[in-house]
Amino acid sequence: MPLAAIARAPGVPLFGSLLGYFRDPLGFFRSTARLGSVVDLHFPGSRSFQLSDPADIEYVAVTANKSLVKDGTLRDLRRVVGQGLLTSEGEFWRRQRRLAQPAFHRDRLRAYAAHMVASTKRAMRAFRPGETRDVHADLMRLTLDIVARTLFGSDIGTGATAIGDLMAATTERYESLLPLIFPALDRLPIPRNVRLRDSLRRADAVVYGLIAERQRSGGDARDDLLSMLLEARDEDGSRMNDVQLRDEVMTMVIAGHETTANSLAWALFLLSQNPAADARLGAELSAVLGGRLPTLDDLPNLPYVGCVVSEALRLYPPAWVIGREVAEPFELRGFLFPKGSQLYYSQWVVHRDARNFEDPEAFRPERWEDGLAKRLPRFAYFPFGGGPRACIGNAFATMEAALVLATLTQRHRFTLAAGHRVAPRASITLRPRYGMRMQVVARD
Ligand code: HEM
Repeated sequence: MPLAAIARAPGVPLFGSLLGYFRDPLGFFRSTARLGSVVDLHFPGSRSFQLSDPADIEYVAVTANKSLVKDGTLRDLRRVVGQGLLTSEGEFWRRQRRLAQPAFHRDRLRAYAAHMVASTKRAMRAFRPGETRDVHADLMRLTLDIVARTLFGSDIGTGATAIGDLMAATTERYESLLPLIFPALDRLPIPRNVRLRDSLRRADAVVYGLIAERQRSGGDARDDLLSMLLEARDEDGSRMNDVQLRDEVMTMVIAGHETTANSLAWALFLLSQNPAADARLGAELSAVLGGRLPTLDDLPNLPYVGCVVSEALRLYPPAWVIGREVAEPFELRGFLFPKGSQLYYSQWVVHRDARNFEDPEAFRPERWEDGLAKRLPRFAYFPFGGGPRACIGNAFATMEAALVLATLTQRHRFTLAAGHRVAPRASITLRPRYGMRMQVVARD
């Protein structure tokens, strides 16, 4: 069938559907999904399609993965993370993935759990019942601290500000598709570009410092990710050079903290709007932990904590859309997608589709009880993507979110500050646009 037979998003000459996309990217993808399971997004300058049927998404992510590369936005992100695991391709990617994988094995995760709880406890020393705080900012610092300590054996300390600024500048840069369509915009000395360049320079200094510190301490070999990267040898015996090391470390730092911080901030928000769920969470924590800190071994006995995390990831998936570019012409549903087409599939859309979830807009953690995850079609729920390019940090992040949530909420509740506006900001991740100002309340 010719591609022209595919439903097309409404638009205007020259700009296509871009105005609708700019106005509200999340609403745009939801409304275009209603036009059909494969939709021509009508973006100017490229052939871009959206898929929203879980079976098609599975086909693209798993079966046809070899015909695809990351989409234009992710390739562009190389200006921040270079050729790290998230953005590299082919044999190079495969080798780096094999190299990094042991740092995420089950036995390593066990060692990280205690760090995760200890870091949360340290962060909570600043929390005073009755005060109002931006918990999203707190969680960003906390999850960065956790990644630095577990994967790089380092206390990132004052470097956290530079990384936080880089995250903010990256969010700002990738919120808009405009620079992708008009690349010249990136070369203008406008404040947005200056902020990205400046924060990248400062964050680079932090990351190179972390690597140099470990190289200096030489003999003190540890078994964390940084050591694995430093020790790795090519077949010809050569090591990774400093730029490759920097790219992998920067990738883990960038991919590995804001996503988890966002999911926790959204979980606290959803709990604040659903007192019955919050009370059930408090009751489970009190019954199982009786006031002591959680450990990894407690998690199987805290099923409701896991349900809250799954449900928050469903309603506010921190990775809200995945994009791929067709590298070799590729067929789906009888359509032949030409080389260079962009394919998008959105967690935000699929997770809120009534065909996949009953009462999809409602926060109902208990829907995950009784094995819903196993009954769902594959890719009806995919907060961590899937196929060969699935998130390497899936188990790390799920465990971290559960342990941090259990530690944060066993003695405290969080209520939304009066008048605080809550809205998602869809950029490279889905973060709360105005932060998350919440009041800390002692649990009875
Ligand atoms: C709730 C937290 C997280 C979410 C929702 C999430 C989501 C995702 C998704 C959807 C992808 C696939 C992207 C694509 O297909 O283009 C991905 C890839 C990746 N994530 Fe995560 N992630 C999370 C936490 C983490 C953590 C904690 C780490 C590391 C410590 C991490 C590191 C990575 C890396 C390195 C990749 C690229 C993997 C590859 O292509 O081989 N993520 N993540």
